[in-house]
Amino acid sequence: MSGKTFYIETFGCQMNVHDSEKVIGTLMAQGYAQVEAPEDAHLVLYNTCSIRDKAEQKVFNRLQNFKRDAGKGKIFGVLGCVAQQEGEKIFDRAPHVSLVCGSASYTRLGEMLVQLEAGNRHVTGLSLDTDETFDTPFTRRDNPHRAYITIIEGCDKSCAYCVVPFTRGPERSRTSESVMAEARRLAAEGYTEIQLLGQNVNSYRDPSAAGWDFAALLGRVAEIPGIRRVRYTTSHPRDFVRAIVDAMDANAVLCDHVHLPVQSGSTRMLAAMDRLYTRDQYMRRIEWLKTARRRYSITTDIIVGFPGETEEDFAQTLDLLEKVEYDSLFSFKYSPRPNTAALAFSDRVPEEEKQRRLVILQEKQRAIQIRRNAELIGAVREVLVEGRNQALGQWIGRTSDNRTLNFTQADSNGDSLEGKYLPVRVTRSGPNSLVGESATVV
Ligand code: SAH
Ligand code: SF4
Ligand code: F3S
Repeated sequence: MSGKTFYIETFGCQMNVHDSEKVIGTLMAQGYAQVEAPEDAHLVLYNTCSIRDKAEQKVFNRLQNFKRDAGKGKIFGVLGCVAQQEGEKIFDRAPHVSLVCGSASYTRLGEMLVQLEAGNRHVTGLSLDTDETFDTPFTRRDNPHRAYITIIEGCDKSCAYCVVPFTRGPERSRTSESVMAEARRLAAEGYTEIQLLGQNVNSYRDPSAAGWDFAALLGRVAEIPGIRRVRYTTSHPRDFVRAIVDAMDANAVLCDHVHLPVQSGSTRMLAAMDRLYTRDQYMRRIEWLKTARRRYSITTDIIVGFPGETEEDFAQTLDLLEKVEYDSLFSFKYSPRPNTAALAFSDRVPEEEKQRRLVILQEKQRAIQIRRNAELIGAVREVLVEGRNQALGQWIGRTSDNRTLNFTQADSNGDSLEGKYLPVRVTRSGPNSLVGESATVV
């Protein structure tokens, strides 16, 4: 085991994935080399997620596996949302951990590494009291074509089930100058797709004099020469204003996809969740998208079995699925989380009932996706080629509306198509992806 090597494993959402890219860049700038196995690393880091109980358990299982390595010169660090949530309790639960650091403190990572190297075995970064965002020149990006850019950190909402406001702190927007400079630099480096990130990108507000809102920022990023696709995630329906749809309509670089998490189709449940919109208000946003100039793919997140959810509430969620016709969705069983308001709610839905509802919901959605994907047979869509599936002899493509469209290329002369944009004709469809043939001869 040599010094100055690190291993990092990342759990959770894209924000975490991108945070890890920044942490990796920062560590490499300090002379650390990344290794692929925790056994080979001097510094072992877990960037954790605590959105549901299962996610939180993962890091403790990992740490448990390495208990016997304690005191052998290996340094363990817990980063991210579990770190922020559990704080110094982690030192008791896993005494071989020396670093506990939440995402709001990554700007201090350099000095924390110095402390660890000096032998300090209780280093923490747990303050949420910061106006700073984690802008670093050292980001180590994973994908050669698509790059994430954080535009806003934290969350000022207080959804009754959610830990994020506690684990990521209050909202902090980056200046538009800083976002634009990063996007231009990425374009110059050859990236063609940009994904703007935040727990609620819609509430982005430029802190500098320009004062851009999210729609204005979207429009400007889409105008950067060399950028062919811009995506963003995630949206809160309450802050999803008409101007965002107008900005998307005005420039096709802004991808044909909106992820608009609804959580429930029942206004009563939405109120209990403190989501700040009714079913009707949500449906108005869906109308904007359905009557827009382009055809947008809409996806969502649903929670089943929130405390007090009745059969009737659940039936309204199923009905909403039919009305909106989502192209895909993430569905979750409600998981009680520390610090959240819903922890005190009575009328818990039993585990078996949550499971039953989840299965019904997923079956219904599967049927919708089979139907909607089949409608695309014969259509031609532009894909960004993301890779190759050797076993199937197919290239892996992604459409602007975020579908996977894998395809064969008849006259390929063996050159890699990765990173190219190509028109593909859809020939077959399944519930989760499409298959096609390249519509041009390369
Ligand atoms: N900021 C995003 C959500 C981030 S968390 C938004 O407002 O939509 C991603 C998803 O996890 C949420 O949309 C929700 O569906 C789910 N989720 C969050 N907390 C949960 C909990 N306690 N139990 C089950 N699912 C949860
Ligand atoms: Fe959580 Fe709600 Fe904030 Fe999304 S908007 S991160 S669900 S509190
Ligand atoms: Fe998980 Fe934190 Fe993201 S709780 S979903 S990693 S913001």
